[in-house]
Amino acid sequence: MEKQRDRAQPFWSTAMVHKLILDVDTGTDDAVAIMLAALHPALDLVAVTTVNGNIEVEKCTDNTLRTLEWIGRGDIPVYEGLATPIVRPDFPTPRATKRDPKVHMAVLPVPAPKGRKQDKPAPIFLSEIFASNPNQITLVAVGPLSNLAATIAVDPAFPSNVSHLIIMGGAINKSNITPSAEFNIWADPEAAAQVFRAGFKKITLVPLDATHEALVSSDQCDHLRNLGTAAGEAAADIIMHRIKGYEANQPTGTPLTAPVHDAVCVAALVDESIVDTRFVNVVIETAGEYTIGRTVVDHEKRTTRPANCHVAFHANRSAFINMLTEIFARGPKPGTR
Ligand code: BDR
Ligand code: CA
Repeated sequence: MEKQRDRAQPFWSTAMVHKLILDVDTGTDDAVAIMLAALHPALDLVAVTTVNGNIEVEKCTDNTLRTLEWIGRGDIPVYEGLATPIVRPDFPTPRATKRDPKVHMAVLPVPAPKGRKQDKPAPIFLSEIFASNPNQITLVAVGPLSNLAATIAVDPAFPSNVSHLIIMGGAINKSNITPSAEFNIWADPEAAAQVFRAGFKKITLVPLDATHEALVSSDQCDHLRNLGTAAGEAAADIIMHRIKGYEANQPTGTPLTAPVHDAVCVAALVDESIVDTRFVNVVIETAGEYTIGRTVVDHEKRTTRPANCHVAFHANRSAFINMLTEIFARGPKPGTR
């Protein structure tokens, strides 16, 4: 049974504003995560970095810029990162947009951006910003982990400067790209393995098992649209697109719903009770013929490998949706940015 909340009492306080940087491959659910991070009063979105993933990195950058400008947050800088995985010369195909064009879009349905990306490459920016603000910023990575691995390569001190790393990726009893793997980890498994070995102080992994418990329905999209805001309208359009894609190709088991994976990570940063975590060992499979990209989660303690990751096994659907609804009521009206 989900925990009930008194909606009159906010569960966050603006006295405790979390600084965060989002690493994205925008991406429909990435766009919802960006809007939540950019509009939540308990969050200070310092910057967004983009990475090759759902689509080519330059398209991820364009989608990120247009999402931020649509909700009046074109002030947030966007840094473009890696165009390929760190080891494999070709991105494993098909991309998300090819394998499932109904879930992701090459171009998001909001106007083209007027602004442009920053000149500095994402790994250089990440190294510098965390070095000059050690232990003060949370990194939320919701695409393949190529940028993080590249940053570790140029700056071995980087992991120790990150206060908390939250990753959308992996799976325990679910999958979405091979029978063993989730897309973000599978898309650059060597990068993911490097990240899990790098000695980050705290890693929280939000896998498919949790995000599929925080499904958003078409009725809830109607509610978001009726908020009359730019964020509500974009979220409704984008999530409805996802719902149609899931209905067509990978039904969730609950009619007219879809997961909005990446936004769950942002919600869990504001309100950690949105996910139920256990501290366990996680390693990444990089060699298996059938299992490459699998997150090997030792939740039954079959090894003596030490715990290194807080894995979300469950998510609180109503709390997540309440947060989306509350926060997307903020910001400009559509077309008034
Ligand atoms: C993850 O892969 C991408 O397609 C989504 O944006 C999400 O980050 C889900 O497997
Ligand atoms: Ca993503």
